[in-house]
Amino acid sequence: MTPQSGPPATAQPPFSQRFRERSILMHRETGGSTYLAALTDGRLDLTAYAALVSQHTVIYRTLEQLGDAFADDPIAGKFAFPELARRPHLEADLAFLQARGIPISEPTEATTRYVERLTELAGWPAGFVAHHYVRYLGDISGGQAIGRQVATAYGLVPGGDGVRFYVFDNVKPKPFKENYRALLDAAPLDEREQDEVLDEVLLAYRLNVEVLTELAEQLLPHYPQVAS
Ligand code: HEM
Repeated sequence: MTPQSGPPATAQPPFSQRFRERSILMHRETGGSTYLAALTDGRLDLTAYAALVSQHTVIYRTLEQLGDAFADDPIAGKFAFPELARRPHLEADLAFLQARGIPISEPTEATTRYVERLTELAGWPAGFVAHHYVRYLGDISGGQAIGRQVATAYGLVPGGDGVRFYVFDNVKPKPFKENYRALLDAAPLDEREQDEVLDEVLLAYRLNVEVLTELAEQLLPHYPQVAS
């Protein structure tokens, strides 16, 4: 065995599969949020729901402004799907809730940190893709169930006013995700940058967990039925 040959390099699984493996790890933590659990099984109210809508509005405004800036980028531009845009839906949900006298909350510290990280990514298109994946593939996956549960729990119409954030017209989740994974696998990144992007996926999840944790800390003490 010549020195430079060494043991054969183990072939890396497809990039998209490595995303998914990172997702499975963090997903348990994210999906286990006490705030999301109380929200989806009807133990909160529209005011507590509006707090999440308010945070999402700030986060997606920044994410989609970054997406607009990367529209012509050879890496991030491939993920510019207009049908994913959430800003108009979130603005409609906020307006609907406000019209019903539901107070809209300020961005939390966790949301501000999340937005600061997104803003830092203006120079790193592949880093943006990590956050794009965590948010949008989550929204067209588990987010669909969350949207239905919130509507049912708080007397809204599934897919209607107040929960339009969860409506993805012209997106069929299964083929969309397959195409998305093919784009991840085709992204022209060397192994070092792939590893950095996968670390950014973990950071994106962590920032989302912190947003949900802060909402739990701020809100749940006001809902004794949750504590009991
Ligand atoms: C109650 C909370 C949640 C539930 C029940 C849930 C459920 C699911 C389900 C069933 C899938 C599809 C898994 C598959 O294709 O095998 C999924 C995928 C995903 N979820 Fe969640 N989810 C939740 C929260 C979240 C949150 C808060 C995020 C991110 C912030 C997230 C990000 C993702 C991502 C990125 C995927 C796609 C993974 C992939 O196919 O590569 N999820 N989720």
